[in-house]
Amino acid sequence: LFGFSGLHFMKEVPFDDEQTGMKEQIVIRFSHVVSENTPKGLAAGRFADLVQKKSNNRVKVVVFPNAELFSDEGELNALQTGQVQMIAPSTSKLGTLSPEWLVLDLPYAFSSNEAVKEAYEGEIGQALFADIKKQNIEGLAFWYNGFKQMTTAKGSIIHPTDVKGQVFRIMPSKVIEKQYEVLEAASRPIPFDQTYHNLEKGTIDGEENTISNIYSKKYYHVQKYMTITNHAYLGYAVLMNREFWNGLSIEIQDIIREAMAEATEWNWQYSIDMNEANLQQLKENTSMQIYELTPEDELEWRNTLKRVDLHFAPTIGEKMMESLRKIKS
Ligand code: LMR
Repeated sequence: LFGFSGLHFMKEVPFDDEQTGMKEQIVIRFSHVVSENTPKGLAAGRFADLVQKKSNNRVKVVVFPNAELFSDEGELNALQTGQVQMIAPSTSKLGTLSPEWLVLDLPYAFSSNEAVKEAYEGEIGQALFADIKKQNIEGLAFWYNGFKQMTTAKGSIIHPTDVKGQVFRIMPSKVIEKQYEVLEAASRPIPFDQTYHNLEKGTIDGEENTISNIYSKKYYHVQKYMTITNHAYLGYAVLMNREFWNGLSIEIQDIIREAMAEATEWNWQYSIDMNEANLQQLKENTSMQIYELTPEDELEWRNTLKRVDLHFAPTIGEKMMESLRKIKS
């Protein structure tokens, strides 16, 4: 489709830098599905700049936002086959690689941003990345976005029973599917870049996402109601084609790791700030009706959605569930 494939073409783009005298540049194509002005979009841009500076222009990261290159249906395969070198899908989209990834989707698994950080940077994150190495994927980092909220066109959502009978767009995750089953609602896995269109057409009533995604994709034009449910977290696995990674020199790998660590640290704080700022913007500049669950409401949601945990614990496995319990306590 794009007139290229395979790793070699990517790695050796003719390059003639008069200052450094270099004849070739390593090009890393980084595809993602969200807007540039989001925690992921901006972290990707920052990472690209850092790599270019730290490598003195020997490595160039070209970022393709908004599913320009691949939609989320195709990007994992594109990564594994070397059509792109980097992607950063939400962790919810990796449950198809291994069931352990489902742990991150469990409702109310994390009660704070700090708890998510502990999971990503601790034994949960390590185990998840170890698990996908054999599938030609090198996990470089986890990036943050935020907790998911529910939106709908159909009326204010306060109690779990309020979503009964509605149709929700979901990411392709068995856990999220089950969540809506428990809520007696229907769910449809739809790629992110087609969600707005489906909301507009009314083929779905609602969806769940972070505030930054809801705001940057202007869902407030097609969704009148949002409830701050914070019922699960949406973050990203930043992944590189492993064969490509292994083909890089240790020096370049170190540069990439260093740039990634800096971009990740920045993304952590920025994701929190941006979701807060976007919530204010939604409140002040749009006609969306926003309901924040009271502690009593939240307890009702937690109790209702416990069934999802019970259902998936055996699939996810005791080791992973135990790691999660350690974070919670
Ligand atoms: C979604 O599909 O809703 C998200 O994964 C989009 C994203 O990458 O933040």
